Amino acid sequence: MRSLRKADVAIIGGSGLEALIKDMEQIRVGTPYGLPSPISIGEIGGKRVAFLLRHGLRHSIPPHKVNYRANIYVLFEMGVKRIVATNAVGAINGDFKPGDLVVPHDLIDFTKLRQLTFYDDAPVTHVDVSQPFCPEVRSLLIRTIKERCTQVWNRAVLVCTEGPRFETPAEIEMFRRLGCDVVGMTVAPEAVLARELEMCYATICFVSNMAAGIQQRLTAQEVAEMAKEKMPVIEQILRETIAHLPEGRRCPCSHALKDARFRG
Ligand code: HPA
Repeated sequence: MRSLRKADVAIIGGSGLEALIKDMEQIRVGTPYGLPSPISIGEIGGKRVAFLLRHGLRHSIPPHKVNYRANIYVLFEMGVKRIVATNAVGAINGDFKPGDLVVPHDLIDFTKLRQLTFYDDAPVTHVDVSQPFCPEVRSLLIRTIKERCTQVWNRAVLVCTEGPRFETPAEIEMFRRLGCDVVGMTVAPEAVLARELEMCYATICFVSNMAAGIQQRLTAQEVAEMAKEKMPVIEQILRETIAHLPEGRRCPCSHALKDARFRG
């Protein structure tokens, strides 16, 4: 790829992170999968960091239209080995409350229409997602949050829905019975695509609302307002986590393709 700037780590920012890169130079570069969301490059603790705005500069790309493959592929081409993401979620688990921070450990993909893999052709590739989020990045995120004396849910099952509508109460009740704690619209297939290219991925989520049927009515406005409120602390947590990431990787993500190819 032509003069693509290199980075070690990436932040994929969801709702609210637009402010983080608003004064930085934007990179727009094509991939075999189409155009990714806008990216800027900065530095944190001596590491080169790519900031990717999942929903675009003015929050114009809805969750089901995000080009997840282009986003992950461009970061891969830039040399990024680790991704720390942020996501807004609704709480299904009644113990979780708006404003809480959550670092999910598992994922249920309920999306319907998305391009979900880089491996559409031979060799048939089945990547292992026994731990869908990088255990090393997760534990560093959790440690960083705890050091700031901020509350965090350090285990949670996240269900990803297709959107862009919010869920019905019956869907949320189904997800609750399936053991889901929080619901969002953007972690899948983002996390899985990163694993398919052996990149680490973990996310820090903030609860913006109780899920449908638990509270009376859901609005995009309350998601945006909570994003604005939580972003300063999340930005700080992201900075500290990235600064403390060790050089080498000792997690399974770095060799996710080992033995993943089908040899019939
Ligand atoms: N459902 C899906 N995605 C969300 C929600 C929700 O209730 N809140 C924030 N993102």
